[in-house]
Amino acid sequence: MAGRVVVLGSVNRDLVLSVPHHARPGETLSATALAEFPGGKGANQAVASSRAGAVTQLAGAIGADGFGEAMREFLSGEGIDLSTLALRPDQPTGLAVIAVDATGQNSIIVVPGANAALAAGDAEMLDFRPGDLVVAPFEVPDSFLLEGFRRARRAGARTLLNPAPMRAHDPALIGLTDLLVLNETEFAQLTGADDVPEGPALEAALAVALPDIPVLILTRGPDGALVREGGSIRAVPGHRVIARDTTGAGDCFVGVLAASLAQGRDLAAALTRANRAAALSVTRDGAGASMPRAAEIEAFIP
Ligand code: RIB
Repeated sequence: MAGRVVVLGSVNRDLVLSVPHHARPGETLSATALAEFPGGKGANQAVASSRAGAVTQLAGAIGADGFGEAMREFLSGEGIDLSTLALRPDQPTGLAVIAVDATGQNSIIVVPGANAALAAGDAEMLDFRPGDLVVAPFEVPDSFLLEGFRRARRAGARTLLNPAPMRAHDPALIGLTDLLVLNETEFAQLTGADDVPEGPALEAALAVALPDIPVLILTRGPDGALVREGGSIRAVPGHRVIARDTTGAGDCFVGVLAASLAQGRDLAAALTRANRAAALSVTRDGAGASMPRAAEIEAFIP
């Protein structure tokens, strides 16, 4: 029987500014457009998972404001189980201010609000089952994630950690992780490297890093992914598309990967699907709203 995807993660309202280029320190810049989108890495991953066809639950928090209400409405319309989405009346809903330049590259500043108020107690009501895949990006506190992962492990569920954005964290989280999914910059930060290694040096670093992690997946945007599993490393090819907005592409990859594994696909098939979905997502504006549906992923011709 297929398991569920349960995301322990952030909910943000994204204010997206279209800019000719990213502002340099001290520079004042005029945006050419302003748009508002649903976002937050946790919410984006949950939307990607649900649209890819998995039964999906989101555990997180919103504030008692218009942004929070709009996010609850959007997520519930996506068919996501929000029974574990807490209301924090004393906090604003998370907010992200995002600049997207003419090439689709983004820079993001987040005001965490209610996301930062989550704690271990908020994970105590989570009820996992064997077959579930519990997914955690890094925009919510460690105490919440640790309690969630401990409960997941006790219930026989698998855990996927996506340390984005990378930050100081409790190393116990890594010890509770079955699948680690991160980009090259996050990999360099996590392993304490001065620079992002390239070519054979990257594979050599991947071969020896974090030896207790059963599956380590390094995402590389249009260059696909490198996957270490059972002592061997393989490359998964990426797809080159014309990018409008890369915001949320990593979240799309994680959400569709998790959905595909929870639905019973093997790792190779899940990675192919996740790569295709992420390529589709960058051809559309926004984060949460850009996630493709299962039929679109299946119809994607590389
Ligand atoms: O990964 C993209 C997301 O990062 C945005 O939706 C923004 O809210 C930030 O959380």
